[in-house]
Amino acid sequence: MKKITLQSEIEVAKSIAELSEIDAQLLATAKEAAKGAYAPYSNFKVGAAVLMDNEAIVIGNNQENAAFPVTMCGERNAVFSAAAQYPNIAIKAVAITIISAKGNIDRPIPPCGSCRQVIYENETRHQSDIRLILQGDIGEIYVVQSVKDILPLLFDASYL
Ligand code: THU
Repeated sequence: MKKITLQSEIEVAKSIAELSEIDAQLLATAKEAAKGAYAPYSNFKVGAAVLMDNEAIVIGNNQENAAFPVTMCGERNAVFSAAAQYPNIAIKAVAITIISAKGNIDRPIPPCGSCRQVIYENETRHQSDIRLILQGDIGEIYVVQSVKDILPLLFDASYL
């Protein structure tokens, strides 16, 4: 059978010092947001900060529930809240980071599949790519220019 290759490219920063000023600020805001997460079951606090096209910044964090599947991810809360507050404004970037119980996760936190799909819906809604800035507790930071780069073979309204 014929094979196809799905390719993507992301930037890797060694630390916050290598980021643009706005991305560094966004990541610091996301880290602050993680402190307010409600994660008593996983002890895995996720913080997100959304940068809007009007320069507003909207935060979100994960909110867990004793009925586990009811839990909502931090980045999805941030994106939905941003869309609720500014329905006609595009999102320029989302920074996502963690404060984990281990405290030493040195790989950037990737958004879960559902969150990627939600972020992609927002890209198509406003016809505007969303930059993702991803960080673990510590270590390297990934900068992704569009969620399309980490969501290959994606489903969208063009199939409906
Ligand atoms: N979580 C997020 O907030 N975002 C993700 O992309 C992955 C997982 C949260 C959900 C749950 O509260 C905790 O992390 C552990 O899965």
